[in-house]
Order: sequence, then C-alpha cells, then structure tokens
Amino acid sequence: MSTVVFLGGGRITSAMLAGLRLGKTRHRLVVHDCDPGKLRDLKKRYAVIVEPDLTRAVKQAGVLIVAVRPSSVRELLQMVGKAIGKVNRRLLVVSLAAGVPLQALSKSVGPPVQWARAMPSPVCRSGRGLTALTFPRMLPRADRKRVHDFFASFGQVVEIPESKFDAFTVTYSCSHGYHALATLARVAQAAGLDRKTALLASAHALADGIIAWREGRHSLESLLEEAATPGGIAAATAAKMDAAGYGRAVRQGVAVGLRRARANAGK
Ligand SMILES: NC(=O)c1ccc[n+]([C@@H]2O[C@H](COP(=O)([O-])OP(=O)(O)OC[C@H]3O[C@@H](n4cnc5c(N)ncnc54)[C@H](OP(=O)(O)O)[C@@H]3O)[C@@H](O)[C@H]2O)c1
Repeated sequence: MSTVVFLGGGRITSAMLAGLRLGKTRHRLVVHDCDPGKLRDLKKRYAVIVEPDLTRAVKQAGVLIVAVRPSSVRELLQMVGKAIGKVNRRLLVVSLAAGVPLQALSKSVGPPVQWARAMPSPVCRSGRGLTALTFPRMLPRADRKRVHDFFASFGQVVEIPESKFDAFTVTYSCSHGYHALATLARVAQAAGLDRKTALLASAHALADGIIAWREGRHSLESLLEEAATPGGIAAATAAKMDAAGYGRAVRQGVAVGLRRARANAGK
C-alpha cells in the first residue's frame, strides 16, 4: 500500500476518490487543496486524509497527482519544486492537466521527479471510467505499472502516445453523451413527450445500444443497419440530421476543443 497525494481537491479528484472507495482501494489517500471547505467536504465524503500544508503533503507522497486546472499548474509546480527540494528523494508525479505536455511539466520540476500524464473520466465515480495514460520513454516499467494499476482500479485504461493525447481528451469526454442526451430529450419534449419519458427514451437511444455493442460481437455497421430500416423513420431522421450538419457540428466542436487543449500547453 502506498500513499497517493492529490494536489487539488476539485471535480476530478472527487470522482476519482469515489471510484477508489468503490473499488475498496488499499492506498492511503491524501488530498491537498487551497480551500479548507473543500478539504472538509472530501474528508467527510470519502474518509481521506486532508493536508492543507503543501510541503507536508508532498513529503508523504508515494505518488503525487496534479489535479489543478491547467491555468494553475505553473504556480502550483513552483511551490511543488520548493517542497520537493526539502524532500530530496525520487518521486513519481502524474499530471491530469489537459493539454499540458510532459516537456513543460518536466521543465517546471525536473529530477528527482519522474512525470507521467493521465486523462481520467469523471465516470470513474461509478467504476466505469476510461483513462488514457502516456509516459516518457525512459520511465521504468515498474513506475508505468504502478500508474496503470492505480487508474485501472476504477475503470479501463489505455496507453497512447502523447501526440494523440489532445485528440483523446476532446473525444472521450462523457460530456458528449450528457450533451446529446439533454439535446435529444429537449427536442422529444417539444415533440410531445413528458420530461421523464423524454429522458428515458433518449437515454435508451443513446446508451443502451452502445453498451450492447461494446459488450457484444456485432459490428457497428450491422447494428446501424438493423436499427434503421431503409426508407423507415430512423433512417429518415438520421439522414436529415446529417443533411442539417450533424457531422459538421461535431467536427467544428472537436476542432475548437483541440485548439483549447493546445492553448493550455502555453499556460
Ligand atoms: N473534470 C474532469 O472531468 C477532468 C477530467 C480529466 C482531467 N481533468 C483535469 O484535471 C484538472 C482539475 O480539473 P477539475 O475539473 O477537477 O478542476 P477544479 O474542480 O477547478 O479543481 C481544482 C482544484 O484545485 C484547487 N487549486 C487550484 N490551485 C491550487 C493550488 N495552487 N494549491 C492547491 N489547490 C489549488 C482549486 O481551488 P480553487 O477552485 O479555489 O481555485 C480547486 O479546488 C484539470 O487540469 C483538468 O484538465 C479534469
């Protein structure tokens, strides 16, 4: 059992703590945040150890997780660098900051820190997360395994090259599903369904078939063919959505997300 210290106790830390508790983690979990109220809340909800002092938090870390927003990373790492100077030992640090590359991270805090990046999903709260990991070439296999096993305790893990990280970040967000659900349910209500039935029907439309596809052996093409009879209602609806710019809207959204991720690299 090692001590995992989270720097930043916001949204994604809260989701990861829930997933870790659900998976009955044996890690000792410590959270540092600048907001005492958030620390109190996390302690109450997840029985974690809270540490308002950064140096004391860093000192006890086996693995350190950087979970502040990209715009706060530089300032935090300046303080972490000073704290690590006092610790004076090798430390594995995993950054969750979207768009901030390994090169910038290791420039901010170099050896004895070893860096990795992770992109977890808040769906890890329910144990159904998906996390992308990327490592610098020289990171020892044992460190990679430690990071992999930690994130695998609350969902699936994929290891991808850092050059693909921004595209993954923009694509994998569960916000796409929530956004589509909210949009479809709103339109369904306007078409006459009550809110409860609109949400039920929309959630089935967006989620149940996809879960079955993931768990089954049928190709996406064959399932699409099965669900949309040529000349039928589903086929006409999908064709109209495409003609109205569904693909274009998704492309434009993804392009903006990629630009935002790249902008984070300079923060
Ligand atoms: N949310 C997600 O689904 C998700 C998924 C994958 C990756 N990420 C990444 O995870 C990181 C955190 O995202 P989030 O959504 O959890 O953000 P968040 O909710 O804003 O949480 C960040 C927390 O860190 C605190 N903080 C900021 N600077 C600090 C400092 N110097 N020392 C101590 N605490 C500090 C913030 O306090 P204040 O609010 O007072 O500033 C806040 O409580 C981001 O880099 C994001 O790209 C997020």
